[in-house]
Amino acid sequence: MSEARVGIIMGSQSDWAVMRSAEETLTSLGIESDVRIISAHRTPERLVQFIHEAEASGIETIIAGAGCAAHLAGVTAAHTLLPVLGVPLEGSPLQGLDALLATVQMPGGIPVATFAIGKAGAKNAALFSAAIIARSDEAVRERLAKFREAQSAAVPERPER
Ligand code: RP5
Repeated sequence: MSEARVGIIMGSQSDWAVMRSAEETLTSLGIESDVRIISAHRTPERLVQFIHEAEASGIETIIAGAGCAAHLAGVTAAHTLLPVLGVPLEGSPLQGLDALLATVQMPGGIPVATFAIGKAGAKNAALFSAAIIARSDEAVRERLAKFREAQSAAVPERPER
């Protein structure tokens, strides 16, 4: 975990297809991440152990993706002062709305920054982590600025007919 600056955790292997967007986005910005399957309810001790390791190794943000009742981000935030970025995931009969509400509606006192359901949320959580890191890392700030420029340049002025 030594070079990783962002921890990416997810409740299940089934979350990886979406959460890989977070890792890919960070990699494209030159930010190393440590990716783990950790469940708040199935592997609670693994979660606490990971948080201790993350704090000791200099991880700067933790991105937590989970579906269904989705307590992962909130439980993580309860154990650390690091910024926790929650990504609600689909895959339940409620299509992620359950995870969104469970993640965003934290009672006052333990904040979880909550992003969009699914892939867009995973990508934006990574970009938000990069923005936090960019406050103290000029090279990351420059790569983030270039990403924005390229994104703007890729938008055509008029639709193809
Ligand atoms: C959550 O339950 C996980 O984050 C996942 O989104 C959902 C379903 O998990 P699996 O039954 O696919 O392992 O804890």
